[in-house]
Amino acid sequence: MSAETKKKIEVKNLTKLFGKNQKEALEMIADGASKEEVLEKTGCTIGVKDVSFAVSQGEVFVVMGLSGSGKSTLIRCINLLNKPTSGEIFIDGEDITKLDSRQLRQMRQTKLAMVFQHFGLFTHKTVMENVEYGLEVKGMSVEERKETARNNLLAVGLKGYEDSYPRQLSGGMQQRVGLARALATDPDILLMDEPFSALDPLIRRDMQQELLDIQSKLQKTIVFITHDINEAFKIGDRVAVMKDGVVEQIGTPEEILDSPASDYIKDFVQDVDRSKVLQAKDIMFRPSALISDTAGLKTAIREMETNGISSIFVLDKQRKLKGIATIDDAVAALDAKKTLAEILTQDYHTTTPDVYVRDLIPIARETKLPLAVLSDDGRLLGIIVRASVLSALV
Ligand SMILES: Nc1ncnc2c1ncn2[C@@H]1O[C@H](COP(=O)(O)OP(=O)(O)OP(=O)(O)O)[C@@H](O)[C@H]1O
Ligand SMILES: [Mg+2]
Repeated sequence: MSAETKKKIEVKNLTKLFGKNQKEALEMIADGASKEEVLEKTGCTIGVKDVSFAVSQGEVFVVMGLSGSGKSTLIRCINLLNKPTSGEIFIDGEDITKLDSRQLRQMRQTKLAMVFQHFGLFTHKTVMENVEYGLEVKGMSVEERKETARNNLLAVGLKGYEDSYPRQLSGGMQQRVGLARALATDPDILLMDEPFSALDPLIRRDMQQELLDIQSKLQKTIVFITHDINEAFKIGDRVAVMKDGVVEQIGTPEEILDSPASDYIKDFVQDVDRSKVLQAKDIMFRPSALISDTAGLKTAIREMETNGISSIFVLDKQRKLKGIATIDDAVAALDAKKTLAEILTQDYHTTTPDVYVRDLIPIARETKLPLAVLSDDGRLLGIIVRASVLSALV
């Protein structure tokens, strides 16, 4: 993340306790007591303990952990459905724990929207009325809110279902209504508490993809909860792993995969299909040698020999790829008095940085030459050798 990325949400030393004797519980926590010890001695449950993190504008921040680890407690603190026991929560730099009830209502209506696991739709209202509801509360005119609701239903693929009731829809469709309702008020921040957990696996995968598509257009700031590590890694720019109310690790999926901070996280990571997490950009490297298309054959041969490689990528001045020269062709061409340009082969595969390693496997099997990773405008960003694709899988 760049230094100028704006912090949209910042949570500082957040603790949320449930039950009586909270003062005593806080003292025990300060002395390092565990969740069980605190519960046993004081009857007080630790929901979240001393959690700090920041989420940037446009980021998808996933909170993952087993049941009871504090995920819902945490996300419900961000819109103050849970009142923090101690700590601060900043949204756009403003500490929301200090807002009065009018300011809080205003913030909930304009900046935040929540999507729930069990959809949380009004069963006696139609799909359209469900999506309109938040707009009505906001005081939008009938005309405008109908138009807005219709557009949002269209965006989640529910055109034609405006007058249906939630019970007439499948689970996946009901959650699309939940998503349309959340997006309709055009909030900066979407809070999503296990939104896809109640869906069966194929529908779930569609919804994940759809969320990513919507996000690439809308660039909301999203806090997304799941207990499924594959979902966490697919959706999250960064992931926080919680256990017993504490955040055990925060990092990008790659960072967590490569260096899990505890055995608890290692257990999660074991279930991950690495080929679905790692992308071309994660396994590409800078080629040890490259040459310009204006260079001669002798230079090409020397570069390959010094670097111990059997082929070399040839670039023009804009770093655009002109072709590959192999050592065998280059040596033969030298005898036949040909030029470098005459022996360039176009018989290599290219990919882009965001392609998943899983999708590179068939290509890697098929070719002996390295894969070229190209930017949208055709510049060479890095190369991937066959062994990197296959070793990424273990
Ligand atoms: N309203 C409440 N009153 C008392 N204890 C609560 C309350 N809400 C949550 N807790 C406790 O706080 C802890 C964290 O619960 P939370 O619901 O945040 O977990 P979670 O990670 O969301 O779990 P799940 O995956 O099952 O949804 C648990 O020990 C839970 O029993
Ligand atoms: Mg929960």
